[in-house]
Amino acid sequence: MWRYREAIPLFEDKNIISFDEGFTPLLPIKFGTKTVWIKQDHLFPTGSYKDRGASVLVSKIKELGVPSVVEDSSGNAGCAIAAYCASARVQCRIFVPQDTSAGKLAQIQFYGAQLNKIPGSREYTAQAVLGAAEKNYYASHSWNPFFFQGTKTFAFEVCEQLGWKAPDSLVVPVGNGTLLLGAFIGFNELMAAGLIRKIPKIIGVQAASCAPLYRAFKENSEEILKIDKEDTVAEGIAVAAPIRGKQILEAVKKSMGAFIIVDDLEIKESLRCLCAMGFYIEPTSAATIAGLSKYLESSNPDEIVLSVFTGHGLKTTEKMLKILGESSPGILL
Ligand SMILES: Cc1ncc(COP(=O)(O)O)c(C=O)c1O
Repeated sequence: MWRYREAIPLFEDKNIISFDEGFTPLLPIKFGTKTVWIKQDHLFPTGSYKDRGASVLVSKIKELGVPSVVEDSSGNAGCAIAAYCASARVQCRIFVPQDTSAGKLAQIQFYGAQLNKIPGSREYTAQAVLGAAEKNYYASHSWNPFFFQGTKTFAFEVCEQLGWKAPDSLVVPVGNGTLLLGAFIGFNELMAAGLIRKIPKIIGVQAASCAPLYRAFKENSEEILKIDKEDTVAEGIAVAAPIRGKQILEAVKKSMGAFIIVDDLEIKESLRCLCAMGFYIEPTSAATIAGLSKYLESSNPDEIVLSVFTGHGLKTTEKMLKILGESSPGILL
């Protein structure tokens, strides 16, 4: 992704922390009668697209000479920040919800980060990190703008891979919106540079049991209303109070997009189907594709639709095994 070096706000190349990540494959995959471009962002070094943001943010952290950072995460961003901090030799403490997948917890610790498991929901974890962030640099993937300077490369890659053309629509998962907003920034920069002619319609996918953005959009509210969150297998998007919620709503509206919700049954069916096609992704990524299937019901036959696999299934083995042990009500895709 550092092929777009000129567009990334870092002063000196010597501060770049990179595993030569990015430019992930873009595959045309058939869903029913329609073909969709799927970006394989589960193939990043730490197993999720969060490496885009971590590479830029930790490079900036190195440039600033920051010795230690804290971060809160549902797991994947924590893994990414921990890995890049290991490479940059920056001390790192990661806060995660207690029920985060064991694979992600192991990964964070193997990278040498200190792990703080917080009982309760993702919101308690976000609260718990704030005290530590008063004394340490807050390498937050949700708050820190440099993270989004990394995730914007998603849009650059997609357009380059399509022959410097934007897709008509983009279906992405959304919790705190790091991919959605990053992509929106990237497409806007390409527009401003005269490289593409339009911003794709952005469709954000949320879990039905935790869908504050869907609800605000549906009720035409500019504020993110408080919701009663319930459990979902899609741990990566289980965010009840997205801190950039207003910004996400604005981006989706500007793009003429929308939000779609999917329930756990649909997510699990989508996961089974994708794995049966040879794609081993985590349940959060399967939620996106369940949403994509719903979107395709009303998309135009000639529309160029693009979506993404955001996280690798190997990180969530115990959740995958549990789903494997449950009976399947039938194929939905
Ligand atoms: C695999 C995966 N997909 C999607 C998301 C959603 O990202 P965001 O909360 O930034 O919208 C996450 C977040 O952790 C994730 O781990």
